[in-house]
Amino acid sequence: MVDVASLVDVKSGTQAKSIFWDEQIYELELERIFDRCWLFITHDSLIPNPGDFTTAIMGEDEVVVVRQMDGKVKAFLNYCQHRGTRVTSVEAGNTRSFTCTYHGWSYGIDGSLQAVPFENEFYKGVLDKSTHGLTEVRCESYMGFWYGNFDKSAPSLYDYLGDYRYFLDVWMDSTGGAELIGPPTRTLLNCNWKTPAENFVGDAYHVGWTHAASLSVLGGELSALSGNKMVPPDGAGVQITTRFGHGLGILTNAGPALLSGPVGEMARKWYAENRPKVAEKLGKTRAGYYGSHFNSNVFPNNSYLWGTNTFKVWAPRGPRSIEVFTWGIVEKNMPDEVKEAVYDMATRTFGTAGMLEGDDADNMESMTQLNRGRQIRKGRLNSQMGMGGDKVDEESGAVIGQSAVGETSYRGYYRAYREFLMAESWDDLLKTDPDAWKREFLGK
Ligand code: FES
Ligand SMILES: [Fe+2]
Repeated sequence: MVDVASLVDVKSGTQAKSIFWDEQIYELELERIFDRCWLFITHDSLIPNPGDFTTAIMGEDEVVVVRQMDGKVKAFLNYCQHRGTRVTSVEAGNTRSFTCTYHGWSYGIDGSLQAVPFENEFYKGVLDKSTHGLTEVRCESYMGFWYGNFDKSAPSLYDYLGDYRYFLDVWMDSTGGAELIGPPTRTLLNCNWKTPAENFVGDAYHVGWTHAASLSVLGGELSALSGNKMVPPDGAGVQITTRFGHGLGILTNAGPALLSGPVGEMARKWYAENRPKVAEKLGKTRAGYYGSHFNSNVFPNNSYLWGTNTFKVWAPRGPRSIEVFTWGIVEKNMPDEVKEAVYDMATRTFGTAGMLEGDDADNMESMTQLNRGRQIRKGRLNSQMGMGGDKVDEESGAVIGQSAVGETSYRGYYRAYREFLMAESWDDLLKTDPDAWKREFLGK
C-alpha cells in the first residue's frame, strides 16, 4: 500500500524516489491526475477547416480531435464500439467520416455511428446504432490551444490555468497569438513521465552543465552558460509556481536563445520592435518577460520552451517509459523567415534527434532506472534550492522565487502533485481556500 502523504514533503522540499518507478503510484497517477487534469490535445492551427482531425494521447488513452462542420471542435476516444480497435490509424488529415479498419463500422465526424456493413442481413435489427457512437471527451481551448478532460466535475480550462494565464499571455496573446507547427515528431524514451516534466518546469540549473557541449557549438544567448562559466546575475530571471502546479522559469532577454547570425538578429529585432506594443497591452512587467526564455510545464505533462520554441507532451507508457510528442511554436505574425529559423532551431535542439533532447534524455533515463535499486531507493530526492526566498507576487497572484536559477517551480509542481494524489475528487480539491496552497508552500 502506498503511503501517498509521504511521497512529497513540501516543508523540506524533498520527494520519495519511488515516484519515478513504482507501479502502484503510477496507477494512482492515471486515476487521480490523468483522469482529472486538462491534457493538451491540439491547436487551432493544426485543424483549421471543417473535417480536419488529429489524433492525441490523454494519459494512456488515444483520442481523435475533429473540427465540426459548424467550426466547433469535438474530441472522442479513438476507439471503435464494436470490438475495440482504433477508428483512425492516420495521425491527421481531413475526412467526412471515420471507418474502422477491422469490420468497417463507420462514424460521422460528430461521433455518431452511421453505417454498419450488412446491418440488415447480419444484425437483423438487434444492433441499436444510436447507443454505439464514439465516446465524446470534454474539450476546451485557451488562445487556440485545445485541452481535453475526462472529469466532468473539473473546473473550466480557464480556471484550471488560473494565475498561470498571466504568464501564458506573454507569448500566446502578445502579438496576435501563437501557433504550433506539426505534425509532432514522436520519440520513445525509457523514463518516468515526471522526469522531463520537472526538468522543464523549473530546471535552469542543469543548462550550463548538461548541455555544455551542445551550447558551445550553438550560438545565441544561452550559449554563454556553457560549461557553467558564468552565473546569471541578480535580476536575470525568476522561478514561478501556481495553484495547480503549472510553473515556469524565465531567463530575461534570452529570447532567441540559441539563434546566432542574421536569423538571430532578425528574431531579436522582432522582439525589440514588439516590446513597446506588449507593454501597452500587458503592462511593463510582462513586456520585460516578452522576448525572454521560458522553460515551463502545464500540469501534469505538457511542457514548452519559449525562446527555444519547442512544445511537448510527455505521454506516459507505464511508470518507466514515455512517448514524447514534439511540435514547434511560433508567434503567428512573425515574418516567415523568422518562423522557419526558429522551427529549424527547435528541431535541431529538441526534435527527435535534437542535440539538447539527447543530453536531457540520458539524465531522464538514468534517474528512472537507478532509483529502483534496492540501496539507491533509500533516502529522498532534493529540490531545496532557493527555499526561503519565495514570495507571493501581487501582480500575477503566483509564487515567485527571485532568482534565475532555483527550484521553486519543482517544489510547486510536487506540492500540487501530492494534493492531486491525496484528493478523492475535484470537489475535494476546490473546497479549500484558493490561497491556502500559498500558505502551505511558503510555510506560513
Ligand atoms: S472493431 Fe471496429 S468494426 Fe469491428
Ligand atoms: Fe535540458
